[in-house]
Amino acid sequence: MKITFLGHSCFLIETSGHRLLVDPFLRENPAAAIPPENVQCDHILISHGHEDHTADAAEIAKANNATIIANYEIAQYFGAQGLTTHGLNPGGGFTFPFGRASLTPAIHTSSLNAGANPLYMGVACGIVIEADDRRIYHAGDTALFSDMKLIGRAGLDLAIVPIGDNFTMGPADALDALDLLQAKQAIPMHYNTWELIAQDAQSFSASATERGHAVTALAPGESLVLP
Ligand code: NI
Ligand code: MN
Repeated sequence: MKITFLGHSCFLIETSGHRLLVDPFLRENPAAAIPPENVQCDHILISHGHEDHTADAAEIAKANNATIIANYEIAQYFGAQGLTTHGLNPGGGFTFPFGRASLTPAIHTSSLNAGANPLYMGVACGIVIEADDRRIYHAGDTALFSDMKLIGRAGLDLAIVPIGDNFTMGPADALDALDLLQAKQAIPMHYNTWELIAQDAQSFSASATERGHAVTALAPGESLVLP
């Protein structure tokens, strides 16, 4: 299984027979690896409504005839645009052609068109993907919470966690998250896209190594292959 970081919280996960895209935000992302028209995928998984996780979802879904998997409200929103969607909610999962996807809690907000009248998009979630005998947790945008221990209890091959601070947990809390999750490997996300969430990923990785965690900080466009 190959995991490619496309920038911010967007990842392409290539399984033996499928291409899964998580949290598409490329065109307006100053640090994106590729533009949305270069993405090929069959499923798009979305953690929550904010534009930095959903902005290119409709365009990519339409171009690829891909199914959007997200919480119920986000699924309804994109479904009303004529796109194929599958709604879930935290604690629930479903077996798709690629394997199982389930949503977890996250502590964050979830809205679209955030201005004077934001359109609320259900609760923010994390995503667990089980495919090719691997289990991956994409935390979405979240604070640290002790129930991460439950997410890790069945064993995780990879945990993808935000470290940017300001909108999500920062590096110190993300280190505690790794302690709770006990994943075999981890990748930091949601940092350095803008100055507001600038972080030193190498320093985070070094601190994580001291605590016994294997962390790989990927630059946009770089991949990690799970053994
Ligand atoms: Ni967010
Ligand atoms: Mn975000």
